[in-house]
Amino acid sequence: MSEENKSRRIRIFDTTLRDGEQSPGCTMNLRDKLLVAETLESMRVDIIEAGFAIASPGDFESVKEISKVVKGAVVASLCRALEKDIDCAWEAVKGAANPCLHTFIATSPIHMAAKLRMTPDEVYSQAVAMVKHARNLCPNVEFSLEDCSRSERPFIYRVVEGVIEAGAGVVNIPDTVGYAMPDEFAALIRDIFSNVPNIGRAVVSVHCHNDLGVAVANSLAAVEAGAGQVECTINGIGERAGNASLEEIVMALKTRHEFFGAHTGIDTTKIYSASRCVCNVTGSKVQANKAIVGENAFAHEAGIHQHGVMANPLTYEIMTPESIGLLRNKMVLGKHSGKHAFGQRLEDLGFHFDEARVEELFSKFKDLADRKKTVSDADIEALAHDVRTGASGNVSLDRFSVIASNVITPVSTIRLNVNGELQEKVADGDGPVNASFHAICEILGVKCRLEDYQLSAVTEGMDAQCEANVRVRFKDRAFHGRGVSTDIIEASIQAYLQAINTAMDAGAESIA
Ligand code: KIV
Ligand code: ZN
Repeated sequence: MSEENKSRRIRIFDTTLRDGEQSPGCTMNLRDKLLVAETLESMRVDIIEAGFAIASPGDFESVKEISKVVKGAVVASLCRALEKDIDCAWEAVKGAANPCLHTFIATSPIHMAAKLRMTPDEVYSQAVAMVKHARNLCPNVEFSLEDCSRSERPFIYRVVEGVIEAGAGVVNIPDTVGYAMPDEFAALIRDIFSNVPNIGRAVVSVHCHNDLGVAVANSLAAVEAGAGQVECTINGIGERAGNASLEEIVMALKTRHEFFGAHTGIDTTKIYSASRCVCNVTGSKVQANKAIVGENAFAHEAGIHQHGVMANPLTYEIMTPESIGLLRNKMVLGKHSGKHAFGQRLEDLGFHFDEARVEELFSKFKDLADRKKTVSDADIEALAHDVRTGASGNVSLDRFSVIASNVITPVSTIRLNVNGELQEKVADGDGPVNASFHAICEILGVKCRLEDYQLSAVTEGMDAQCEANVRVRFKDRAFHGRGVSTDIIEASIQAYLQAINTAMDAGAESIA
């Protein structure tokens, strides 16, 4: 028997599309969500939490669509422990090959008194009744005790026992506010195993937030204490300081396999492309020194380190870049490269396109290669993500023209294709980008506030492509958009249009 077969198999429950999407500005449109779901499935995560179906019509639609396409993972929808939430979540996930209803209620004194205004007995009865209701619809039910780490032990044991009796197959123990410390959280998990008589009939899951920077440490401590499932997100995105990061947990379990005596089913070679995919669709970048997927995670700067790594990579590398899908010693691609080498590089970077898409991208690649000596992976990723997410929505740019100088007020003329009809407006502004954004808002009759605007070069060099990322606030939500072009104004317009398309898809209302 292999070492892996002897060790415990830890299930990975990914909540990038639900808790991750709850981070400010990380709102994704349906196409983005399908793309992330497809990436998670190809990484072989066990459960994909596709959304919170009752939260909005857009959330419902995306949970439903993800449920239709994902075959290789369980698809879950979050729902409060309320009949209407559970029924709505079931409508959204029932088409999945393996559906799951994930229902929750808060169990801490502060949440029960201040938020729910319910007594512990009422919370207990509601939890048990709603798990029974969910089980009547779906064979796979997970129950979460929100704010569990600040709940009282006897009440935790009572609720956990009750919901298992009612049919929950997974009981999730969240550190909702990121308050627990690793030893303390591990003790909680051990105590649950020792004090809940029917605990052997359920999988114990953990869900940690990163407010004090210990979400991954808490999750790993819980695995050591016996937890069989970890909830996490790509790049650790999520509410406030985020959730435990999937890549850190998975690589810790792989690299320190003997220490934990546990393994996951994740194809770790998909980690890097999944991280890039989430950065691209949310516009939320990871810091350079982020463990596993940061730009510097495998870079060796100091001479003594470089010397060691050249002599033997194990001197300073505890895992290889290849193990997360980062390729070393790749062929350089340029204008003489053929379609085969280009198509292979797309595959290596985690993009699986049909022939027609590869053809379309190859001609864009050739245009770019005419302008640049070598085309880097970052350039290819930028092109590929543009093909996948760039042209979404009912509104697209037909043409633009700007007049800008430091002596006259900049003016932009924008022509958009709005549901097949060409519409044009001229507007001025503080600069050419500002003028273009004004013209777009006038054509579409929307009012929104630009909360964040960032321009960066995809690679170094004068001939680099430029990437624009914007975050635009509508009445009660913010939306992200991204555009790539060798022209900074065009990249900015594309990014702004993508954010507005996403907002319109989500039915967002203009600000007053
Ligand atoms: O943080 C939390 O408690 C949650 C639950 C709904 C699982 O996200
Ligand atoms: Zn959470």
